[in-house]
Amino acid sequence: MEIKIISDVKNQECDILVVNMFEGKETSNEIANEYALKQDKFEGKLGTTYLLPTYGKQSAKKVLVLGLGNEEELNNNKVREAVSKAIKKALQMKAKTVAFDFNGIKFEYADMISEGAMIADYAFDKYKTEKKDHIETLYINADENLVKKGQKRAEAMELTRNIANEPAEYATPEKLAEIALSLGLETKIYNKKECEEMGMTAYLAVARGSAKEPKFIHMKYIPQNPKKRIAIIGKGLCFDSGGMDLKPPASMLTMRDDMSGAACILGVMSKIKEFAPEVEVHGIIAACENMIGPDAYKPGDILTAKNGKTIEIDNTDAEGRVTLADALCYACELKVDEIIDIATLTGACMVALGTHASGIMGNNNELVKKLIEIGEKSGERYWEMPMYKEYFDSLKSEIADMKNTGSRWGGASAAGLFLKEFVTDDVKWAHLDVAGTAFLEKPQKEFIAGATGVGVRTLLNYITEA
Ligand code: BES
Ligand code: MG
Ligand code: ZN
Repeated sequence: MEIKIISDVKNQECDILVVNMFEGKETSNEIANEYALKQDKFEGKLGTTYLLPTYGKQSAKKVLVLGLGNEEELNNNKVREAVSKAIKKALQMKAKTVAFDFNGIKFEYADMISEGAMIADYAFDKYKTEKKDHIETLYINADENLVKKGQKRAEAMELTRNIANEPAEYATPEKLAEIALSLGLETKIYNKKECEEMGMTAYLAVARGSAKEPKFIHMKYIPQNPKKRIAIIGKGLCFDSGGMDLKPPASMLTMRDDMSGAACILGVMSKIKEFAPEVEVHGIIAACENMIGPDAYKPGDILTAKNGKTIEIDNTDAEGRVTLADALCYACELKVDEIIDIATLTGACMVALGTHASGIMGNNNELVKKLIEIGEKSGERYWEMPMYKEYFDSLKSEIADMKNTGSRWGGASAAGLFLKEFVTDDVKWAHLDVAGTAFLEKPQKEFIAGATGVGVRTLLNYITEA
């Protein structure tokens, strides 16, 4: 989708001209006022649409009236969602060119318009012979700078969604490394031997059952005088079969999405130079697969993580935390100020919050609260899960420092407490559990089924606002 900023949207030749209507109020368009509002009593409720022909009386072939609801109650999320509804409608109508004639909408919503439009226009049709429809050109009259910002975030999401949607045979650890290297940043890829030398026994144990070599990825964005230094870590399980504790087929089916955290980090890092924040950002991914094989790690194994702590493997399917343990140790050794990890970590989090919110935990209240606040504005919900120390009881081991899992109950919190064991006290840390939100089985709001790119907007906005 190409976005063109023009001033005279009203008279732009196009397939569909979208005009906004606040509940019960007149629009800037005569046809809309005459037929939608007066004749057919279209109410203009948020996200509703009303399509009208122009019979050659206007430059556009059709006018789509888009309800924006109550003018005073408008916010970022409502603008984005309404815009995406208009785009979905235009796609249904096979429109190729769309113009937005928006009036009475605050200047600062401009980035929501481009972001919402691009999210709604997304399709993953690489493997389809018959390609999906797309809007070719979108004409808008809005602040160019802001429009570009929304566009860049949506492009980052597109990269993330593409990578996470790919089959595991394509999006291998090696492929993720290749993508990381293509982003034009200073990037170091550690192979298996180098990871061994660094003492990443926990991460490497998870990778052992797979024929695909693990790749530990470290991308760096280092500006002149950084205000602070952040590491962002993504769970990078290119496929999670469960390992020796094999998953049943229905649970395994979508496990190519278990690298959604990693895909998010790649999306964020792909745009970091363009956003150019005054913050040092380290993008870290411990990529591998969790498979069964002659050398697969086993229940009862005891592994030593990079910081020397020992883990008794209670269940090989709780592998994400085992890989993240070493990645967190690695990030702590960089002496960064903050670490944010994002992971499709627990089914328990998905059971608790469904697909409408991600879980968040951490060792620093301020950081957690800030991420929740920025997430809310960015169109991503984060809900804080408790980190009561009692949740660690289920992880207590007779023969090692901890088990990787224990009880069926409170699984998201237990996983959070497990990760905390690998974070030093001097660093602020937040953990995002996106098991339920990274990959949708059916369409939801502006998203089609499949990868959502969750985390990209919150992390980019957090980093750039810092
Ligand atoms: N990758 C899964 C978590 C997951 C579940 C992500 C559903 C997306 C959707 C993770 O590695 C896992 O298998 N977790 C287990 C942990 C259990 C064995 C303690 C789970 O949640 O069942
Ligand atoms: Mg698992
Ligand atoms: Zn997993």
